[in-house]
Amino acid sequence: MGGRSVRKQRILFIGAGRMAEAIFAGVLRTQKDYIEEIVVANRSDLARLHAMRDQYGVSVTTDWRDAVAKADVVLLAMPPQNHRDVLTQLAPYIKGQLVMTVAAGIGIGLLEETLPAGTPVVWIMPNTAAGIGESITLFTCGRHVEDKQRDVLNMVLAGIGEAVECTEQQVHDLTAITGSAPAFLYRMVEELELSAQGYGMAPETARRMVAQMIYGSAAMLKTGADPADLRDSVTTPGGATAAGLRVMDERRFSEMMQGAVEATNARAREMANE
Ligand SMILES: NC(=O)c1ccc[n+]([C@@H]2O[C@H](COP(=O)([O-])OP(=O)(O)OC[C@H]3O[C@@H](n4cnc5c(N)ncnc54)[C@H](OP(=O)(O)O)[C@@H]3O)[C@@H](O)[C@H]2O)c1
Repeated sequence: MGGRSVRKQRILFIGAGRMAEAIFAGVLRTQKDYIEEIVVANRSDLARLHAMRDQYGVSVTTDWRDAVAKADVVLLAMPPQNHRDVLTQLAPYIKGQLVMTVAAGIGIGLLEETLPAGTPVVWIMPNTAAGIGESITLFTCGRHVEDKQRDVLNMVLAGIGEAVECTEQQVHDLTAITGSAPAFLYRMVEELELSAQGYGMAPETARRMVAQMIYGSAAMLKTGADPADLRDSVTTPGGATAAGLRVMDERRFSEMMQGAVEATNARAREMANE
């Protein structure tokens, strides 16, 4: 991991929402030795900033301009629609800091064209499991990212889980699968919990059952086993599971999943252009 050669970093988060919290919680949990200071900024929600300061010991501000000059890394963790404005305001303060964004649909291009020439920029696309160090994060680097910035990037990425370097287009196309699909999975969990409760299970027992079922299934997949083989191993031909799978097929499960991915990507593109 590149983090080993990294000196202590000051990281400024612009945006103090769920994704900012997930990332700095993950980084603070596993990479504290590489962190000098984390500063978290939003525009107005002081109560949230104070809660974060008390829980994580981060510094907080409603004016990020105060913190940019001293920052080694500026991480944009606010909605895609606000990027152009904030990047324009940020540009005069940038003198070599590594600038990252986590915003869906925002490519390297917008960062490089808005920030001073030569600014190292990275687009990272984690998911909310970052907070427990279990994100799968897609990332792509701009033209001016050198080894020393890659080391810092790797330190942050390793703090929040696993990562895969992609082309910019791949990050666009795959965000639905790594960033949004956890919501698809949780939606399925809600239905399974409801079914379990319908058969008389207490809500907390239903939650525990379904969570462990998914955890175990994910662990089987992580051994490298093929999902179709795993599915076969629980599906006796003509048996009970096969009857359930047949309903999924009859109701066009494949079409539904592909449609969900496509709609997610289309909306991400729309928001990036707004
Ligand atoms: N949630 C996910 O699973 C996920 C996954 C991958 C990527 N992302 C990306 O992460 C980004 C943030 O998502 P989120 O879920 O964390 O959103 P969120 O919970 O709604 O938080 C957004 C934060 O941005 C702040 N903000 C908005 N405009 C700002 C500005 N001009 N200057 C400073 N702060 C500003 C907001 O606070 P104020 O309104 O008080 O300023 C708030 O703290 C988005 O771009 C999203 O695409 C999210």
